[in-house]
Amino acid sequence: NKAQAWSARFSEPVSDLVKRYTASVDFDQRMAVHDIQGSLAHAEMLAHCGILSADDLKAIQSGLAQVLQEIEAGQLQWSIDLEDVHLNVEKRLVELVGDAGKRLHTGRSRNDQVATDIRLWLREQIDLIVEQLIALRRVLAEQASEHTDTIMPGFTHLQVAQPVTFGHHLLAYAEMFERDTERMLDCRKRVNRLPLGAAALAGTSFPIDRERVARTLGFDGICRNSLDAVSDRDFAIEFCAASALVMTHISRLSEELVLWMSPKVGFITLADRFCTGSSIMPQKKNPDVPELARGKSGRVTGHLVALLMLMKAQPLAYNKDNQEDKEGLFDTADTVRDTLTIFVDMMNGVTVHAQSMRDAARQGFATATDLADYLVKKGLPFRDAHEVVAHAVLTCEKRGCDLPDLTLEDLKGFHPSIESDVYQVLTLEGSVNARDHLGGTAPAQVAQAAKAAIERAK
Ligand code: ARG
Repeated sequence: NKAQAWSARFSEPVSDLVKRYTASVDFDQRMAVHDIQGSLAHAEMLAHCGILSADDLKAIQSGLAQVLQEIEAGQLQWSIDLEDVHLNVEKRLVELVGDAGKRLHTGRSRNDQVATDIRLWLREQIDLIVEQLIALRRVLAEQASEHTDTIMPGFTHLQVAQPVTFGHHLLAYAEMFERDTERMLDCRKRVNRLPLGAAALAGTSFPIDRERVARTLGFDGICRNSLDAVSDRDFAIEFCAASALVMTHISRLSEELVLWMSPKVGFITLADRFCTGSSIMPQKKNPDVPELARGKSGRVTGHLVALLMLMKAQPLAYNKDNQEDKEGLFDTADTVRDTLTIFVDMMNGVTVHAQSMRDAARQGFATATDLADYLVKKGLPFRDAHEVVAHAVLTCEKRGCDLPDLTLEDLKGFHPSIESDVYQVLTLEGSVNARDHLGGTAPAQVAQAAKAAIERAK
């Protein structure tokens, strides 16, 4: 048993199981680059403040450069005897440069070190995710601008409600992902604060310059309270919450893609590269990617709940519980990034079956509300108009026809104020064109909205 960094005061070594149980190096080695980044900034500040000699700083800088090289070349031997990424990197540094390496940890604790590493890592992930969210919004808005007058049924309760344009439908998702972008950027502000200098919990007796380290590492500022700096993970929880919403929106879109892809609906076809076949049914082409994305939304929400439970009731300041924050956080970012990358490509390659959409909109009396609105414009109170149209729909149902199939005579039978101009209102085009205001589904509005959305996704 190799001795742990802290083992001098212990009378017996930990068992192999406890060693494995308490070690995090298998997963936190992922933050090695950020750990080194943080150490370099810390060492530079120590030297600047006269806490470390210029020679020691040089030794640390060249030593860490070599450790980084070894890590990137896959040559560093990670050891669970050294618990986590921090102690592994430090141990290798000491092997390379001796006493200077042992001075690196002056005025620092793994508690403020790990909090810094996570923030540096997460900041990068947020930037990648924001880029992908913007790319997805652009694809959706560009598709929308090609389908400003492609008519489909709009649903409530998954029952045909009123005709909408496919472009309008896509832009609804662009809106959701735009809010997700805002949430990520807002969360980034609170991620981008420096914990270093808090040391274990109370700060340090050395004359450090935290603002300097913050500037070096590109943080917007420091965490103001040392106890808070090392112990809270609310910034990670916020990121997971924003991610859970991204995946929730993805799951809604996925559900629709799966539905639209069903031969019973047939609104779209996904490119073959996002589908798989069946090992028994030769005819099958299954929309696996959106189905999996729908499933993965549950996994990401699970990570959010796990982190909330991890944080709940933790007394100040650092507790080892917090080591459990990483795997779920890493998996959240990985899942969101992969999902968005795939969706950008997949949404770009959707084949739209405009005729099927149109045919579906012609079923289910999608323009019934338009007929009611028509009667209101002729002077009927809306509630009376609603009833008149209900009777017309019942008749159509019995005859197996649609509202525009009724003769003017039939229609006048329901209400004498109905004239031949009613047919314009009962068409799908008449219906969508009539909703010509900000946020409405009229092709002219959708064209404007798509253009603005593309502009905002630049
Ligand atoms: N591996 C630990 C973590 O992820 C680093 C901090 C440990 N600090 C300590 N005193 N045990 O949280």
